[in-house]
Amino acid sequence: MVDSIEKIVSLAKRRGFVFLSSEIYGGFGSCYDFGPLGVELKNNIKKSWWQEMVRQRGDIVGLDSAILMSSKIWQASGHLTAGFADELVECKKCHKRFRSDEISRSKAKNQKSRCPECGGVLTKPKKFNLMMKTYVGPLEDEASITYLRAETCQGIYVNFKNVLQTMRLKIPFGIAQIGKAFRNEITPGNFIYRTREFEQMEMQWFCAPKDANKFFNYWKKERLDWYLSLGIEKKHLRFREVKKSELPHYAKRAVDIEYKFPFGSPRSGAGWKEIEGIHNRGDWDLSNHSKHSGEDLKYEGYFPYIIETSAGVDRTLFAFLCSAFTEVKGGRTKTTKSVKEVETVLKLHKRLAPIKVAILPLVKNNPEIVKKAKEVYDILKPHFMCQYDEVGSIGRRYRRADEVGVPFAITVDFDSLKKNDVTIRDRDTMKQKRVKIKDLILCLRKQL
Ligand code: GAP
Repeated sequence: MVDSIEKIVSLAKRRGFVFLSSEIYGGFGSCYDFGPLGVELKNNIKKSWWQEMVRQRGDIVGLDSAILMSSKIWQASGHLTAGFADELVECKKCHKRFRSDEISRSKAKNQKSRCPECGGVLTKPKKFNLMMKTYVGPLEDEASITYLRAETCQGIYVNFKNVLQTMRLKIPFGIAQIGKAFRNEITPGNFIYRTREFEQMEMQWFCAPKDANKFFNYWKKERLDWYLSLGIEKKHLRFREVKKSELPHYAKRAVDIEYKFPFGSPRSGAGWKEIEGIHNRGDWDLSNHSKHSGEDLKYEGYFPYIIETSAGVDRTLFAFLCSAFTEVKGGRTKTTKSVKEVETVLKLHKRLAPIKVAILPLVKNNPEIVKKAKEVYDILKPHFMCQYDEVGSIGRRYRRADEVGVPFAITVDFDSLKKNDVTIRDRDTMKQKRVKIKDLILCLRKQL
């Protein structure tokens, strides 16, 4: 587990996980780009979620709805009118901005309503709607205004009838979707924790109102178990019941899954921050869309209740990076010169690791070894995300692979030329074993 956010930011930049968006122009609006390793990690997280939530179940189907939708949807959902706005206060002295709910929580602790940074006097709260406005078509007039979606689930609700009819489903069932969402956050920050463009993995579970509580508890447990199954320690995860006064405008009940990040928050105490929300949305969405669209979205005469699980891809990726980050004092590879030197190992779950196998010729000045190593690379490439690396000493290459969480490093050496075998080194145990090249795919597949 990492002890400071800076270590993750530095690793993420240095090793191609996350870059600042528009970096050569000085960055842009708290947006981030995912580099070659970041995109692999992100895809693996989404694949694991989809596998768990759709593929392994018979009662949840997928959807990929458009980001741009009729602005009437956002009117009906309450995002333009009701509570989808943050209250902002500004310090009159240092001009830092804060969400007033964060200030009021810290105020409860400190018994004063002053700037948490410099103690200055704060302005009166002002409401800011978080929807990102845009125009569709050539005219920038009222009629062409729409919004980038602020949550992916609205695309699910407006397709409720389409999916129900085409898939001949019966309640209870779920619809799952992964995709981008946008919010004009007034206080983005903490690296990729709060950004203006992010990705969500959302599942909407439609059920009879009488079963809503039962399914709420069921989904709470299922979702927590998913994080545990991918290697996050139990002590770094917790549920937080959202207070009635803080509930989103659509929710009857909400429980956040929080992860203990290495940065504090006046909102929910040191380090604990939301990575996923479980919401009982009641019949808010289907009844409002029925009313506004004129389409009857009832099922057997009633509006189903919706239990929603809503996770952020970027936040969970951040949590996985934090929990996998391990420092070994004195080092593990022979490259470490001093006992004070620290080597980094990213102990990502094997399913999440962006690169599964590193292929390393023992020396790069022996053409036969290099040729054999490239053969091994060609054999494994179609099956696993592989990386061929011949630069630097073998110890340095192990170290480079450990730092980005490669679970297996394969070394091709002089014996490989005679016996057609290689050594496989396990990232976590550092144990090495010899395996015949012809058995490699099966052997790796078993372990991955
Ligand atoms: N459909 C319900 C919904 O959107 P939410 O609690 O507002 O609920 C769900 O968001 C999840 O989306 C959060 O737990 C978080 O992981 C992610 N998320 C929300 N706003 C975000 C932001 N500005 N940056 C990154 N992730 C965000």
